[in-house]
Amino acid sequence: MDSILVRGNGALSGQIPIAGAKNACLTLMPATLLSDEPLTLTNAPRLSDIATMTQLLQSLGAEVAGLQQGLVLAMSSHDIANHTADYDIVRKMRASILVLGPMLAREGHAVVSLPGGCAIGARPVDLHQRAMEALGAEIELKDGYLHARAPGGRLKGATIHFPLVSVGATENALMAATLAKGTTVIENAAREPEIVDLARCLRAMGAQIEGEGTSTITIQGVDRLHGATHPVVADRIELGTYMLVPAICGGEVECLGGKMELVGAFAEKLEAAGVSVTQTERGLKVSGQGRVKAVDVVTEPFPGFPTDLQAQMMALLCTAEGTSVLEERIFENRFMHAPELTRMGANIEVHGGHATVHGVEKLKGARVMATDLRASVSLILAALAAEGETVVSRVYHLDRGYERVEEKLRACGAQIERIKG
Ligand code: UD1
Repeated sequence: MDSILVRGNGALSGQIPIAGAKNACLTLMPATLLSDEPLTLTNAPRLSDIATMTQLLQSLGAEVAGLQQGLVLAMSSHDIANHTADYDIVRKMRASILVLGPMLAREGHAVVSLPGGCAIGARPVDLHQRAMEALGAEIELKDGYLHARAPGGRLKGATIHFPLVSVGATENALMAATLAKGTTVIENAAREPEIVDLARCLRAMGAQIEGEGTSTITIQGVDRLHGATHPVVADRIELGTYMLVPAICGGEVECLGGKMELVGAFAEKLEAAGVSVTQTERGLKVSGQGRVKAVDVVTEPFPGFPTDLQAQMMALLCTAEGTSVLEERIFENRFMHAPELTRMGANIEVHGGHATVHGVEKLKGARVMATDLRASVSLILAALAAEGETVVSRVYHLDRGYERVEEKLRACGAQIERIKG
């Protein structure tokens, strides 16, 4: 297992290109199952999660080529030869559940393994299941697999009301509804930019969708979808992560391709902490202005502060002047980075869904362990600002969601290297 070695060495400045969004790509890829014509994604990121989704789609009979230099992913699902998403792939990546809606909508049946738990919480898929049932599917749980069938071979448009906001369940419902007979209305839909991106792609494939980006999405089902080429939206979580580099270390970083509308609530918190953020023609420019001030953070569905930036924000607040409280409202067990940051000299108390961070003047390098994707990058951010050397182990988590992280940080002057093995 690889580790990452970081030597904290003061202010970092430069430009960092922001990749296409992992989470958008993971929902755009299963959309290929909705059509027998090719779907091409440009600006796709090169990440291990994308390789896992590639493997899943190939196991269903799709042809997937790409991830070469041009970051183009070309997919074709002329025939869906296998209708079972196997446990061995699904357990590696929860986003695998996103093949359920498209496969059921196009083929009238699908079998998808339940993903099981994951490090940051129970993360059930009941809302995905209920959405498919609202569209007329009959679903049975057998041997850990959801066996779904649309009576008569086709889903029927309906009103789907989500009791809580779910990104993945909204995506599954949206994809399924494009080929259902009649009109579907999704109420209390997620409003994340990745949903807007998915709707744009589906529309380019011939779907009739209105209201994406609001809480109510209306879909008029069509008989078939065709091929399309779609550029993946910029990764707002990668963007927010690199915006934190000058905030933590000092210096000035321009995140190329960054847009304020993708990170509104997060940028507001950074500014409240005393960091300057400006939109330029090419992206977002962030300047560190010395030690930041404490701020309180509550994670919420978009447009609120994203849970996927909570760990990284905590790394910043570890050296803030004063005490900050972070409240995690999306996932019940998402403070596993706190004890690791404590090993680096942070002063953090966790009580249930709240973490209280008493800012210290300086963090110190240590050996720490990545526990999940966003936790792993929070440790790297902390290490960049710490005195001395930090070794972050289990960085395979990092490779799921950040491409070329060492290269991007080195370009800004960071001392960071990967230790193989
Ligand atoms: C997506 C993102 C993930 C992000 C999360 C919240 C992808 C691939 N992943 O995950 O990075 O952290 O949104 O912004 O896009 N829930 C249920 N039942 C369900 C589904 C969800 O109770 O059937 C709960 C979850 O446990 C969680 C909350 O709803 O507490 C929100 O989860 P959801 O928005 O569905 O997250 P994902 O789509 O899995």
